Amino acid sequence: MKNPNKIKLTSLSTKGGCGCKIGPADLAAVIKKLPPSIPNPNLLVGLDTSDDAGVFRLTDDLAIVQTVDFFTPIVDDPYSFGQVAAANAISDIYAMGGKPLTALNIVAFPIHTLDKEILSEILRGAGDKLKEAGATLVGGHSIDDKEPKFGLAVTGIVHPNKVRTNAGAKPGNKLILTKPIGVGILTTSIKRDLLSEEEITQVTKVMTTLNKIAAETMDSYHVHACTDVTGFGLLGHASEMAKGSNVTIQIFKDQVPILPRVRELAEAGAVPGGTKNNFAHLEGSVTFPEQMEQIDQWILCDAVTSGGLLIAVDGGEAEALLDDLLKNGVDAALIGEVTNEKAGNIIVL
Ligand code: CO
Ligand code: CO
Ligand code: CO
Repeated sequence: MKNPNKIKLTSLSTKGGCGCKIGPADLAAVIKKLPPSIPNPNLLVGLDTSDDAGVFRLTDDLAIVQTVDFFTPIVDDPYSFGQVAAANAISDIYAMGGKPLTALNIVAFPIHTLDKEILSEILRGAGDKLKEAGATLVGGHSIDDKEPKFGLAVTGIVHPNKVRTNAGAKPGNKLILTKPIGVGILTTSIKRDLLSEEEITQVTKVMTTLNKIAAETMDSYHVHACTDVTGFGLLGHASEMAKGSNVTIQIFKDQVPILPRVRELAEAGAVPGGTKNNFAHLEGSVTFPEQMEQIDQWILCDAVTSGGLLIAVDGGEAEALLDDLLKNGVDAALIGEVTNEKAGNIIVL
């Protein structure tokens, strides 16, 4: 750990915003007012679906996948923050079935008041993750800002016929999630000094793990839809898949892997605003069991950074894919099923 001045990076947020993702309703209101862009038959995935990245066809057998993600520090260790930001940004390429190729750094940093070594460490962490993903850093852009923010724009490639979106889930598909949830509650707990070093290391490890192996493993199966679980939480992203695919998604709550101490910390008040917003936005499209407590409903909506892939796979192949993921060291679990009753909804069982 190399944080020269022992700066608590996660506490540098300035007033006015929380540094979390702007919610889907607020975004929709803004995007609605934009004039439509010129239609282009090569735009395979664009703004009108709520997919993870855009996909643009270059030739009959090559398309580029583009995505961008950045945020305020989520952990205090700058090297880890860089790694998390990179793993999170690259993840959208994997979710679309692509292979990351190039990346650009996006930097906001108080260069006159914070030690430059902190920024070097952030960039070093991101660089190491890019190497692990096999992607090449081609440049970046930086501004002097009161509050540090970091992320990347990542470009990947995919065969136009092999693009995975959140719109192809079919009744009978099973849902596999490749990382445990609860990251938002745990990172809020980091800000409040509620976690031990060991617990911080554990949640950091979840966030810095690339979805590379999960994506490569699913590649040999009949995957109908895929997304990664990030800011809108498990149920938020599942809901986008349900709406995009015009199906209903059942989530088996007892099979959803949740990181240690999440429930206890949530009860102690460490539920982030983003998580509660996610829950509020889902009102009317999620049915919870009557006896399910509010805390547990929030946990399923917890805003995640650098979460796992949510994969809708042929029902008959689910066990084999799950075994394969586990064998390859991916912390995967079968957490739900796709049905066709009440299309567009989520049912928590
Ligand atoms: Co995503
Ligand atoms: Co994204
Ligand atoms: Co520039």
